[in-house]
Amino acid sequence: MKEKKMTFTVENRVAIITGGAQGIGKSIALELAKAGANIVIADTNAEGIELTIKEIESIGRKSLGVVCNVANAEEVNKLINISNETFKKIDILVNNAGITRDTLMMRMDEKDWDLVMDVNLKGPFLLTKAASQIMMRQRYGRIINMASVVGLMGNAGQVNYSASKGGLVAFTKSVAKELASRNITCNAIAPGFIETLMTEKLDEKVRENYMSVIPLRRFGKPEDIAALVLFLASENSSYITGQVIGVDGGMFMR
Ligand code: NAI
Repeated sequence: MKEKKMTFTVENRVAIITGGAQGIGKSIALELAKAGANIVIADTNAEGIELTIKEIESIGRKSLGVVCNVANAEEVNKLINISNETFKKIDILVNNAGITRDTLMMRMDEKDWDLVMDVNLKGPFLLTKAASQIMMRQRYGRIINMASVVGLMGNAGQVNYSASKGGLVAFTKSVAKELASRNITCNAIAPGFIETLMTEKLDEKVRENYMSVIPLRRFGKPEDIAALVLFLASENSSYITGQVIGVDGGMFMR
């Protein structure tokens, strides 16, 4: 494959990526590392963390892996403290960890509502609150939240997931307003259908239905998301905050 021309840089920045052990989060971690950042991977999957860390180090960057459930305040505070002790700053936070527990609302258990809300919405709140204290002191920060196209358009079978992602979009806008005066930007990305383990479990009929509404007629790759994260994490995006940007092959146009 032809080598991509490097346009954006995050040289010597420190980035925390939640859910960085696989899929989109891993691709983001590698993209930011290639562009010069040192990386903290926070995930519940210890084995996946180890593999990602090895790849980051082979690129020549420093990295730290922390087993952390983003929905647990104590674990999140530990993560932020150890990251700051290790690297002396936190410049970039990517709230990427997310889960699905899909079923029609009539069949959905309260526990599956709560679990999805805890990981997808409370998690980013806990991380953003803790990391932004450090970013405020630095007077610099880039916060990037992984929402979803279904948080904007809704989806049958995903009332919990779509509500969590819609909430994340509103959270992003409010955080952007609260932190702008400290030179901290906060933006959301709304991916469409991206080929990862999360979407691999969907049956063929569902995949066909998605494909039929994607004007670019292909599913996305984790690298399609990572490219935008790099831009939003770089200096080049300094006048962009409170935005939600779709990376979905044209599936949803506002
Ligand atoms: P994935 O399932 O492949 O990876 C998610 C990662 O998050 C895993 O490494 C997992 O261990 C970690 N994780 C799960 N719960 C956690 C917790 N409580 N604390 C810390 N880490 C946790 O998912 P994928 O596809 O890479 O998705 C990443 C993000 O992108 C998610 O927020 C997802 O909702 C969002 N997204 C994905 C789309 C897709 O088509 N794959 C579409 C739209 C949004």
